[in-house]
Amino acid sequence: MILSIESSCDDSSIAITEISTAKLLFHRKISQESIHSSYGGVVPEIASRLHAQELPKILYEAKNFLNNSFSSIKAIAVTTEPGLNITLIEGLAMAKALAFSLNVPLISINHLKGHIYSLFIGKIQGIFPLSVLLVSGGHTLIIEAKNSMEMSIVAKSLDDSFGESFDKVAKMLSLTYPGGPIIEKYAERYAEKSHQLTPTFPIPLKNTKELAFSFSGLKNAVRMKILQSQEEGIDINTDEYRSEICHQFQHTACEHIIAQIKKYFEQKKEDKHSIGHFSIVGGASANTYLRNKVSELCQSYGWNLLLAPLEFCSDNAAMIGRAALEKYHRGDFANLSTLQASPRSSDGEFND
Ligand code: KG4
Ligand code: ZN
Repeated sequence: MILSIESSCDDSSIAITEISTAKLLFHRKISQESIHSSYGGVVPEIASRLHAQELPKILYEAKNFLNNSFSSIKAIAVTTEPGLNITLIEGLAMAKALAFSLNVPLISINHLKGHIYSLFIGKIQGIFPLSVLLVSGGHTLIIEAKNSMEMSIVAKSLDDSFGESFDKVAKMLSLTYPGGPIIEKYAERYAEKSHQLTPTFPIPLKNTKELAFSFSGLKNAVRMKILQSQEEGIDINTDEYRSEICHQFQHTACEHIIAQIKKYFEQKKEDKHSIGHFSIVGGASANTYLRNKVSELCQSYGWNLLLAPLEFCSDNAAMIGRAALEKYHRGDFANLSTLQASPRSSDGEFND
């Protein structure tokens, strides 16, 4: 079995994966969201302290699950990049101590690659080649994965990420952190009342040929609209007002994503070796509106869409354990004394 640890942001999580079957045997995650919520975002110092407190609790549970013996653990996997340095270090320190004391190899996992493997939890084989839309709090990327080792970024955000823009708009409307789920809820309420869609915000990068994402202009457009409403004496804290803004914002943000994926599919049409599997991963891939829109687009272009179960969209150690299986089979182990955490992905590529 592989014991995996995730602490790149505000989720403390440990999983145990069976090596021969890829079966997820144990998975536990303690989210810190409610604590960071009062600050309107993740406070790294607090997140780090909470990991130091929560990870050992989960480790006890994991040991209990294994009848108080780690003798069946053959490797320790840990997220080392990208993420918040001081939270990554908490998981890494635990991973090093475990690998050292159990005398088993240490496996370093890139968090973004982990999200890709959320698609294959419990499955022995991954599906490649695969194109991936990764939408999280820190990233908005289209990645092409030829196989488990060769992955490259073909589009990225020029500024904020998709998830981050939800968090910021939620803050503007005095809603809780994380913004994604709550904005989606308010947006649904507006749609349920079968309102006509009032004029939305301008769709970012509409007239550019470049395959890229941008959310800071949209975020500012929302800010300006809220300021203008306040000047007009509109109460911005009513459910009605929040629902309308959330609906307009979510619609525009998703239309932007769809327009870029469409561009990507068009480019691939001309490519003889076009890739037939598409997927959405990352915390924001839990967004139902986005899932439905991407699903429709995939259908019309003939791409097969892969989605991870909702519980594995946000950060978790199960996806880290599944990604680690690949490295375990290759014997690709990290050096206990030199392995470090890094806030950035090495090279912005995944060829680690
Ligand atoms: O992958 P994740 O758990 O953490 C990072 O690696 O960043 O993603 C968290 C992000 C947050 O920005 C959160 O607001 C966003 O994912 N998110 C959503 C939804 N659920 C979570 N964004 C839009 N719609 C959602 N339903
Ligand atoms: Zn993540």
